[in-house]
Amino acid sequence: MHQSPKQPDLSVDIAGVKLANPLMTASGTCGYADEYADFVDLRQLGAFVTKSITVSPRTGNEYPRIVETRASMLNAIGLANVGLDAFLGEKIPQLEKLHLPVFVNVAGTTIEDYVAVAEALEQVSVVRGVELNISCPNVKAGGIQFGVDPDLAAKITAALRAACKKNILIVKLSPNVTDIAEMAAAVVEAGADALSMINTLTGMAIDVETRRPVLANATGGLSGPAVRPVAVHMIHRVYSQVAKKANVPIIGMGGIQYPRDALEFLLAGATGLAVGTALFVDPACVLGIRDGIAEYLTRHHHASINEIIGTLEVG
Ligand SMILES: Cc1cc2nc3c(=O)[nH]c(=O)nc-3n(C[C@H](O)[C@H](O)[C@H](O)COP(=O)(O)O)c2cc1C
Repeated sequence: MHQSPKQPDLSVDIAGVKLANPLMTASGTCGYADEYADFVDLRQLGAFVTKSITVSPRTGNEYPRIVETRASMLNAIGLANVGLDAFLGEKIPQLEKLHLPVFVNVAGTTIEDYVAVAEALEQVSVVRGVELNISCPNVKAGGIQFGVDPDLAAKITAALRAACKKNILIVKLSPNVTDIAEMAAAVVEAGADALSMINTLTGMAIDVETRRPVLANATGGLSGPAVRPVAVHMIHRVYSQVAKKANVPIIGMGGIQYPRDALEFLLAGATGLAVGTALFVDPACVLGIRDGIAEYLTRHHHASINEIIGTLEVG
């Protein structure tokens, strides 16, 4: 009798949080889950990552705050979100219905803001991790971003480390730095359980007729397929120089749209995979990516996804 081949094991472990598969939403691109309910069965993902949450609600930047560019997009949403209280009261019940581990992206302008959100999330059982968005200006240090200065990044990571007891601490790295491995080393040393990368690359689009920036905010963050090679390179660099020896998993993102893209991230050293901009084109692409990874593993005779993580051969 014909027996169907055994399906490869897609489960991964992100610093002690077990995921059925590595796929998750990228912060800010999938709202609080309900928005996508009609388009894709999010319960089939490995985890759900929320939009950045701040202590107080934020309306975000002036419009226009999104512009399409070739093979990518620029956004300057400005961390628009419902704020901590409404998140806990209205959005958490919605997220509980997914029956998935939830990672909550946390933002703020002072270390105290971040700590307040992280402490409140300790009381919520569906939340399994805090994703620290350090691409925000620290008002107390004169507007410099936490994510571009290794000392500031280490300081905020250490503060969040103390606040996160139940939840794992994932630090989301900005690519807008000279050496991302230096930033990774600083936050790992300060206690990060996992890294996620990359956040968007700062960019600008100009309307040549009006001679003004297209975005009201002038600059925005670039994401989508165009940034993928940058993300893959940065993940390879951080994995080989910092994360592998520290045994700190990386959640990779930046332009993942197809299975082959995701496989590049896995080979470069990512354990988790987040999909953002591609959801705007096809919300169900995450499930196609998951199935395509399984097909690749079967074709290459691997029983588990863990057998290919970080197996890139260079030179
Ligand atoms: C519209 C939009 C909103 C985003 N909002 C956030 C956010 O609130 N917090 C955050 O850490 N990253 C945010 N990001 C960055 C994404 O989570 C992700 O790091 C980046 O877009 C790269 O992945 P992608 O190319 O798959 O979109 C946002 C990206 C987009 C496109």
